[in-house]
Amino acid sequence: MPTYRIAPSILSADFARLGEEVRNVVAAGADFIHFDVMDNHYVPNLTIGPLVCEAIRPHVQVPIDVHLMVKPVDRIIPDFAKAGANLITFHPEASEHIDRSLQLIRDNGCKAGLVFNPGTPLHYLDHVMDKLDMVLIMSVNPGFGGQSFIPEALKKIAEVRRRIDESGRDILLEVDGGIKIENIAAAARAGADTFVAGSAIFGKPDYKAVIDAMRAELAQ
Ligand code: DX5
Ligand code: ZN
Repeated sequence: MPTYRIAPSILSADFARLGEEVRNVVAAGADFIHFDVMDNHYVPNLTIGPLVCEAIRPHVQVPIDVHLMVKPVDRIIPDFAKAGANLITFHPEASEHIDRSLQLIRDNGCKAGLVFNPGTPLHYLDHVMDKLDMVLIMSVNPGFGGQSFIPEALKKIAEVRRRIDESGRDILLEVDGGIKIENIAAAARAGADTFVAGSAIFGKPDYKAVIDAMRAELAQ
């Protein structure tokens, strides 16, 4: 069985109590903290930046997985690396030079990944597999938490799983959007190993109960 990772998205956390929220969700068994960065330009919403990443860093003993939904991409990468990000992913169509952006992330000491919206073709993977530590497949259109999982994403996950296995490289395959206890196993069967969940976790009072139930689904 692959190593499965649960990455709660703090987009659905209570921002007025963010330190406590991240401590609680890590104590509840989170493997990563998923950190959604939206710029009101690439996506129609505005969220949090490097200052907030730096503020939560001392409260989090697991990797911080920064999902950049911003355009342009490069300018903000060193700031997130300094703020304590461990992994930085971006949308290829938001970068003028994908290879350069991936290298920039690595030069700043972080792991690097590409994110694919439901309508973004996978050909962006073609020449950069050797620079990837993660591929993130969006199962909703980016911008908001609490949307419904788009089933078509399962085919895309399966296709990326095939490409990763073929490459022989150690690349995480993350899925983001509408993941819940009820559908996490289907995403795993398609080939995902890392699961972002925002509203499914932070929308319930007992984070550990949700994460445990997700792990139980993955263990079957
Ligand atoms: C959407 C974000 C997601 C979002 C997931 O643009 O990238 O990470 O927070 O939230 P849920 O799990 O509620 O769909
Ligand atoms: Zn995200």
